[in-house]
Formats: sequence, structure tokens, C-alpha cells
Amino acid sequence: MQLRYVEANAPSYDTPLLAVGVTEEADASAGLLAALDASLGGSVARVLEAGDIKGHSGDEIVLYGGDAGPSRVVLLGIGKGEKVDAETIRRMAGRAVRTAERLRIDTVAVALDGLGEVADETAAQAAAEGAGLAAWRFTELKAEDEEKPAVDVRSVELLGSGAREALAAGARAGAAIARGANFARTLQTRPGNVATPTHIADEAVRMSESAGLKVTVFDEARLREEGMHALLSVSRGSAEEARFIIMEHRGGAEGDAPLVLVGKGLSFDAGGISLKPPAGMEEMKYDMSGGAAVIGAMQVIAELGVKANVVGIVPSSENLPSGTATKPGDVIQSLAGKTIEVINTDAEGRLILADALTYGARMNPVAMVDCATLTGSVIIALGHHAAAAIGNDDDLVAELIAAGEASGERCWQLPMWDEFKEQLESPTADLQNVGGRPGGAITAACFLSEFVGDTTWAHLDIAGTAYGEGKLSYQRKGAYGFPTRLLVEWVRSRSG
Ligand code: BES
Ligand code: MN
Ligand code: ZN
Repeated sequence: MQLRYVEANAPSYDTPLLAVGVTEEADASAGLLAALDASLGGSVARVLEAGDIKGHSGDEIVLYGGDAGPSRVVLLGIGKGEKVDAETIRRMAGRAVRTAERLRIDTVAVALDGLGEVADETAAQAAAEGAGLAAWRFTELKAEDEEKPAVDVRSVELLGSGAREALAAGARAGAAIARGANFARTLQTRPGNVATPTHIADEAVRMSESAGLKVTVFDEARLREEGMHALLSVSRGSAEEARFIIMEHRGGAEGDAPLVLVGKGLSFDAGGISLKPPAGMEEMKYDMSGGAAVIGAMQVIAELGVKANVVGIVPSSENLPSGTATKPGDVIQSLAGKTIEVINTDAEGRLILADALTYGARMNPVAMVDCATLTGSVIIALGHHAAAAIGNDDDLVAELIAAGEASGERCWQLPMWDEFKEQLESPTADLQNVGGRPGGAITAACFLSEFVGDTTWAHLDIAGTAYGEGKLSYQRKGAYGFPTRLLVEWVRSRSG
């Protein structure tokens, strides 16, 4: 899909479909709407007067133009003007794409004027993200419906009259971010028999080579040499080999400590010997969502030439039961040297992350952030509206919350008090891998904290936010790419 900024006057712009945001206070006698009203022969004023559109978010009406300018205009209600923010614009651009799909048009222009007080660059970025995310569709494994072929939106033009440099830069960044998130969604959506650890590593290598990242992949022989026995203990039950992926972006000064991103890449989580119940188990193909987001974010970071050293790490494995699988009660080694009693083999994410965090911490990062579909417990705590942010540094957690707000991928802090750590004490090993039901998302983070040493670190539990029903205009049912946007936003905020 083509996404670009065009310096143009929307009411006279030649396009099959123009999308225009309408706030609750909008009136047809000023600004963009007045110009549009003139070019549509007064119909904007008439629909507003008739009350057929009130600007409430969700309101929408299509008007038809004349010989010159847009052939159709969709007015999209965006709520109160003072409340318009980046997320409002992301959703509006998503609705513009959905309108185009419904009308079976593959080209849409989105007017960036008249959208409240949002800065030009932020508005353009948000619109590009919303449109780019909305247009994505997973088509690899299903035949087209010949009776009713779906329309893919191929071109989105962002029209604005504001500061040209800022609008162009925002559109470019937003398009790259949407591409990265969509890459993550594609990897997430591929089923477990396609997106194996080997496949995920191959895709990371392909992406890295084309984006200009240094990439290294460890196979199981190398994992044994390195001593990553926690990762290997999860992979033991599976015929698929584990992989450990390291992607490096060198955008900062040589020798500058990196930012490290770690993502759980569990390609399918059956639970292992502590087998999950069958209902909904197919969703566990999404258990590599954190890894997918890190791969997507690294692509964006490379494409945008972020001025910082950034390392992306993805430990990848399956978690299956078999005669060779790790059993409840087994005590395993880890890269950090700590022994772990595996009480529940379904608490495997923290095991593969333990070795990845130890490896990341050894790079002496300025800060390290991991993201993982780690616990069902986080869904009880925060529902599907925010990831949990839990870490050993409140400033870092605050940065992530701010990046979440800006990117529309929200997270919220849960505490990591010492009292929770007691739940992980084991009679036979240095620690055990589960802490019981109370505070499950927190004790999972406590477990991870044992493997980061002194590193400034935070963890995002994305089990409730990585995929879902697809309620927002720019989402679809299934994979969301969460938290690709958040990670990119955080890294960019750190690199000045
Ligand atoms: N991958 C799951 C967590 C998960 C749950 C992801 C729901 C997405 C949706 C994780 O590996 C897991 O099984 N966690 C267990 C931990 C428990 C055994 C301590 C859980 O949350 O039940
Ligand atoms: Mn599990
Ligand atoms: Zn899992």
C-alpha cells in the first residue's frame, strides 16, 4: 500500500474519496468545512443543519461531489474538538479506509486540517498509522471469495496545509510504524505449523538484511554452548528446534550503551506436560506476539535511522508435551547460573525470557524492556485495555506509560514489592517458576527481575492486548502488532 503526504487543498483535490473529520462544534461557515461546503454546493451546511451528522464520534455520512474536486466526501464525527488527540486521528484514518472498502474504492485521501490542536507532525503520523494498520489483511492461507472479492485499499493520501516538513516527516514515520506493526501482525497470524522458531528466525534474518541490521541466530547446539538451559528446557518436548535471535541497530556513537528490547517468541504454547485445556488453545499461536513486536519495532528503528544503539532479542521455542519434555518438579539450570524448580511447565515464557534477559543484561544496556504474553492474570487485572508495566525503575515505567499514551498502545503500572518475591521461594532450587494465583502477573515479573542483575529494566505483560476481537477501526479480529508502536515511541523518545 502507498501512503504519502500531499500538500494540497482538500476541497479541490481530485480523488474518488475524501475523508474529513467533523467535531461536535464544527460549523460550515469557517475553515475547511466552509471551503468544502462551497465546492459541494452547500450540502455540508445542509447536513449539519438537518442534524444528520452531529460530530459525535461514530457519526458518518457520505456526500457526492460534482465535476471537479473529490467525487465523494465522507464526513466522520470525531467528538469534541478539545478532546481530539493522536488516537482520535488514528481511528478516524482507520474509518476512512473502512469507508473506502465498503464503497469498493481502492484510493482514499484524508484531510489533516480541522482536527483540533494536535501538532502537524503528530497528526500526520497518527493518520498514517491508522490508515496503514487498517488496510492490512492476512491473505496468505485463504482463497478469495470469487463472488465478492474484498477491496484492498492501495493508496492513502494525507492532505494538509500545515507545516510541510513536519507533515511529511510525520507521514513517513507513521507509514514505517504501520509497516513494522503489520509485519508483526503477519508473523503473529501465521499458525504454529508455519511460524516455527526456525521460521521466525528466518524472517528476522530476511528483515534485518533488507533493513540494514546486524543479525545473529543461535541454534540449539550454540544454545548449549552458551548455557541457555532455561530456554532449552522449554524446547525439550518439541521436535522443532529453538532459536535465539539478536538484531542490532547501530544508530548511536560507537561504544554507546544500547537500549535492549526483548520479546517472548513462543511459537506455540500447549502448556507442556502441564497441558492446557483444549478450549481456545489455538490462540496460543499468538504466544510469540512479543517477539513479533520486537522484530517489527527493529525494522522501524532501522528504517527511521533512529540515532541510538538498539538491540532486539527474541528467544523462540515451542512448548509441547512429549516423552522428552521437562516435567513438573524438574530442576533446571539457567544462563545466569540460578537453578529453577519447574512447578508448572505452562509457566514457560518466564523461563525462555530468563536466559534472554541475562544475555541482554550482559550488554550493559542503558535500559532494557521486555514484552511478553506472559500471564492470564494480567487480563484479570487490566482487561484488554492496557498492558501491565512492571519494573525495577519507576522512571522507566513512567516513560513506558507516556509512550503508551502517545502511541495509543497503553500500559499501566503494577507494583513489584519484595513481599511478592516470597511466593517464588523453592525448597529445592534457587527459585521456582510459579508463585500461585494471587498477583500472578506480578510474581511473573518478580521472577524475571531475578535475571536482569542491576540493569534498569521493565516488563510489559501483553497477554490481554496483543490480539483480540478487533473493535477499533484500524484493527481486525486477531493480531494487533501490540506493542510495536509503543516500543518505537519509547526508543524515539530516548534518542532525542
Ligand atoms: N502464554 C501463556 C499466557 C497467556 C494467557 C497468553 C492467555 C495469552 C492469553 C503463559 O505461558 C501461561 O501459560 N501462563 C500461565 C502461568 C501460570 C501457569 C503460572 C497462566 O497465566 O495461566
Ligand atoms: Mn504457558
Ligand atoms: Zn506462554
